[in-house]
Amino acid sequence: MTPDNAVAVTVHPAWLPDAALAPLRAQPSAVLGAGPCLDRVRSELRSGGRGPAPAEARLVVAPVEAVASPSSVGLDALPEVPAGGHAIVRTADRTVLLGADGPATLRGLYALAREEAVGRMLGRDAAPGTTTSAPEQPLRMLDHWDNMTVHPVMGQIERGYAGGSIFYADGEVRADLGRVRDYARLLAATGVEAVGINNVNVHAHEARLLTDGLGDVARIADVFRAFGIRIFLSVSFGSPRVLGGLETADPLDPAVASWWASTADRVYAAVPDFGGFLIKADSEGQPGPFAYGRSHADGANMLAAALRPHGGTVLWRAFVYDHHQDWRDRTTDRARASYDHFAPLDGTFADNVVLQVKHGPMDFQVREPLSPVLAAMPRTRLAIELQVTQEYTGQQRHVCYLAPAWREYLRFPLDGSRAVASIVGGSGASSPAGGVAAVSNVGDDAFWTGHPLAQANLYAFGRLAWDSTLTAEHVLDEWIALTFAGAGLDDLARIRAVLHEVMDGSWARYEGYTAPLGVGFMVDPGTHGGPSVDGYEYSRWGTYHFADRDGIGVDRTVATGTGFAGQFPSPWRETYESVDTCPDELLLFFHHVPYSHVLRSGKTVIQHIYDSRAEAVEGLDGVEAAWDSLADLVGGAVPAAFDARVRERLEVQRASAVEWRDQVRSYFWRKSGVKDASGRVVY
Ligand code: GCU
Repeated sequence: MTPDNAVAVTVHPAWLPDAALAPLRAQPSAVLGAGPCLDRVRSELRSGGRGPAPAEARLVVAPVEAVASPSSVGLDALPEVPAGGHAIVRTADRTVLLGADGPATLRGLYALAREEAVGRMLGRDAAPGTTTSAPEQPLRMLDHWDNMTVHPVMGQIERGYAGGSIFYADGEVRADLGRVRDYARLLAATGVEAVGINNVNVHAHEARLLTDGLGDVARIADVFRAFGIRIFLSVSFGSPRVLGGLETADPLDPAVASWWASTADRVYAAVPDFGGFLIKADSEGQPGPFAYGRSHADGANMLAAALRPHGGTVLWRAFVYDHHQDWRDRTTDRARASYDHFAPLDGTFADNVVLQVKHGPMDFQVREPLSPVLAAMPRTRLAIELQVTQEYTGQQRHVCYLAPAWREYLRFPLDGSRAVASIVGGSGASSPAGGVAAVSNVGDDAFWTGHPLAQANLYAFGRLAWDSTLTAEHVLDEWIALTFAGAGLDDLARIRAVLHEVMDGSWARYEGYTAPLGVGFMVDPGTHGGPSVDGYEYSRWGTYHFADRDGIGVDRTVATGTGFAGQFPSPWRETYESVDTCPDELLLFFHHVPYSHVLRSGKTVIQHIYDSRAEAVEGLDGVEAAWDSLADLVGGAVPAAFDARVRERLEVQRASAVEWRDQVRSYFWRKSGVKDASGRVVY
């Protein structure tokens, strides 16, 4: 075994290396309060045995309820501690961290470590005074599409690009949940508070987690509980038939409702703080209420009634569309489906149902408009669903830092005034609170995420779910400061500059060499990796670009197209309806235009397609050179295995990007016969 391999088999500490906690551990500290999260605080601080009295300790950490009086922790007055969050009081020589409860206190400890690390990197000392931090989203959840067994087509993790599952091996819940513990710790440090532990496509074996598997589910819940994280199970709507031996799963059948109620009772007997059920119904072959002529509200509310006595929540997915379309039929539009199914149901869902809506109307493409469902259901609790796993964004082989995209979605004023983050977070009295969920990118890979730089996406998800006003660049700074906390300051400054060069523009670069101007897909239908320009063009999944010799794009206008643009509230319906006001990056999502159509950039659509594909690949020169410039730090501030993996992925990225460039450029040259004015080679 080479030394590099020896390093590679050690699990990388991601954003919580010892060095990130060292400044806190160095301070004489006192921890108050009891419970699993406070135990964890003590073990993080290594504060066993005799410590200083709380009134004298340099660092005091406590849930607010454990503080008898201000003077007991050496303060004149206690700060207001926001719900779910924490307050930090700093004086010249002391820090007092107060959390709203045990989990919030633990999260606050990691926040303190982060502030130390960022302060060190940027050369800024924390100013004396009081700061508070509260989560913007009540629900901050990661969904695992993990199977217990290896699925013949999808592998163990559906759309997973980082190895096998950390939860399951050989059809069982792993006996050793050490990786899950480390994962829970990483998530707690980002603010994530809920995890769905199995694939939304619930296969026969995994369906049994709900019944026979409860003992093992409880073991997983125990691990997460110590980090203030609740677990959810994905369940099959067909469970009463598949598991319960009933003849129907009709949500209005009393025997079905009673099966679910007693099943939920047993779940809560095993896991008292169980979060609830996540469910994909009537979608891509999963069973649902439509088979019984019932609505999705009927289905969701029946499950909600079963969970209600225990305080549980139903996360009902809005990803419902016809996946048996006929490409000859120009009237059916997959983009419309979610709104058509769900918007009419606004106000009919129980208050312990959260409707989980993918950020765009299609399927996690590199560029889509926001889903209009998010603006159409003011009387329904909504969660926006993001995808950390890079299914359509480079499969963790390409660098694609997604924080700029997520931030754009969360800050988008979708109802004309409020940001999506406010709509789903329920700020202001007008809409009830849901939150943010995302598909995890983690597997049993030594770097957690396959591509080491994809760790930043996992980190950024939690941070933006906590506070969507953070900039993508700032979140990247946090990730760098923590991950490389052991580096000397000069080295850290270089690493920081390089990672910004490599990552800040990586989403735009990926978009640049893949499907143009919002048209989406152009990938292989099996793997969802690309390129395959016509991969979905005559498919039943309903994802087309309609390129012919004259033009390209999908007419989704009200005037002449599928009418999808009309699902948006003003001003967006008007903005998208008109070819004159539709943003360039979404032009082909909303309009079919001739190749000669002139974009705001002054370029024609065809020349834009030619130029952007080539320029985006040229941009990789700078990325590779930047990473190369760290060569002298490899084996020191940059672990050798980390460097080796990044280099291996950069090579794969380049080869794939070149393939995208050449296939897309050649395809459109052959289709249109319009020459590339730049004179670059086409094939
Ligand atoms: C995508 C993905 C599927 C997944 C589905 C979902 O279509 O390719 O593998 O099951 O999303 O979100 O349910």
